[in-house]
Amino acid sequence: MAKTKTVWYCTNCGNEYPQFLGKCPACGEWNTMKEMTVAPKKSSVRGAAQSVEADRKPLKLKEIDFSKENRLGLGMEEVDRLLGGGIVRGSLVLIGGEPGVGKSTLSLQIPLSHPKLNTLYVTGEESAEQVKMRSSRLGGADESNIQIFCETLIDNVIAEAAASRPDLVIVDSVQTMYTASIESTSGSVSQVKEVAAMLLRFAKETGIPVILIGHITKDGYIAGPKILEHIVDVVLQFEGEARGSYRILRSIKNRFGSTAEIAVFEMTGGGLREVKNPSELLIPMHEANLSGTAICASLDGTRPLLFEVQALVSSAVYGTAQRSATGFDTRRLNMLLAVLEKRAGFRLAQKDVFLNMAGGLKVAEPAADLAVVAAVLSSNFDFPLPNDVCFAGEVGLSGEIRPVSGAARRLSEAARLGFKKIYVSSYEKLPDPQAGISIIPLSDIPDLVKKLFK
Ligand code: TYD
Ligand code: MG
Repeated sequence: MAKTKTVWYCTNCGNEYPQFLGKCPACGEWNTMKEMTVAPKKSSVRGAAQSVEADRKPLKLKEIDFSKENRLGLGMEEVDRLLGGGIVRGSLVLIGGEPGVGKSTLSLQIPLSHPKLNTLYVTGEESAEQVKMRSSRLGGADESNIQIFCETLIDNVIAEAAASRPDLVIVDSVQTMYTASIESTSGSVSQVKEVAAMLLRFAKETGIPVILIGHITKDGYIAGPKILEHIVDVVLQFEGEARGSYRILRSIKNRFGSTAEIAVFEMTGGGLREVKNPSELLIPMHEANLSGTAICASLDGTRPLLFEVQALVSSAVYGTAQRSATGFDTRRLNMLLAVLEKRAGFRLAQKDVFLNMAGGLKVAEPAADLAVVAAVLSSNFDFPLPNDVCFAGEVGLSGEIRPVSGAARRLSEAARLGFKKIYVSSYEKLPDPQAGISIIPLSDIPDLVKKLFK
């Protein structure tokens, strides 16, 4: 029998080495090496000449047969749009997310909302009764055409799928599956890698698309190292606070479409609801104007999204002021406060500042700076902003307002939602103003204060 071999791999980039190294030569990270066992190859390649199959030849690009029918529409419109118009036949799609975010709910809802789809739903986490209970809560269980398979041995899953030939295979989750050809426990790097590779081979050979669920660890890696992302065709990341009600499905890798897309869902008692117009939900319908809120015209991927930024500025009770931000980078908040202090003369050092992005959103784009600054100043002066204005601009270290990407798209979304004014950088080159919305150019923070609060 062939000897089992061990290799060391980097948990950061997934590169493998024959021995332990303190620092990974590929990505430069320290102390990231872990050991894993590799199974012996079942049969060795006998030599290049012999392994060439007669029917595998290069093809002329123009001769390759391509029919539009190679995509399969799933039940959920937003998921289809995110995938680029349905799931590509023979592709392996990974849906990653933290525990409790709703991956199992989503993956069950996809076949439930498409009764014609003959689906093999493989679960290694729940019993058939649990799945039944969940699906009756989600509705559509009676008309659906789903086979539930509680199995963790991937070889059995593939044998079953190869025999029954469903339209779609869903595997929940990659971490619970294992193959008998590798000795390590399920969820280990070598198992996860092999399970994904086996499913990829199955998908490519049969043309049946496979959706694979994967848990993300705290630091955002799928299955620890990023190994799975290299193997699969599409990576969709499911984000959102497990306690909040909004979820964002983001395409972070797509071999068959754009990655600048998101889909928004709301978690309700009856499962996930597709939110076609996310801005309308994230903008509050306050009767009275409240101080400390400002609307940000943001762009997530190619999708404009308007949401409310809330700030609370109050006198510090303890010696050092507290700064806390939910859904926004605290360091960036500190930077913006320092800019306000230094460039516009606001004394915020003795003030506690709390910042919150509505709806549990996580905002990473610099275009939100202007709305954050406006909300902080509004709370500081206790001066409510009109509720028909919105903001899109980056704040630089010298207090200047800088232009943002996709300004025209932000503008038309704001106009569509009935906003009357949008505050942007004076360097912004915008097309003709849209009907009903006026563009207010700002050069720097003092300019913002002058135009907004006086
Ligand atoms: P789940 O899909 O099991 O998360 P994951 O597979 O990503 O770990 O569900 C996550 C949460 O969603 C769960 O805590 C309960 C909630 N939920 C609802 O609010 N409504 C529903 O209809 C369902 C099915 C779940
Ligand atoms: Mg689950």
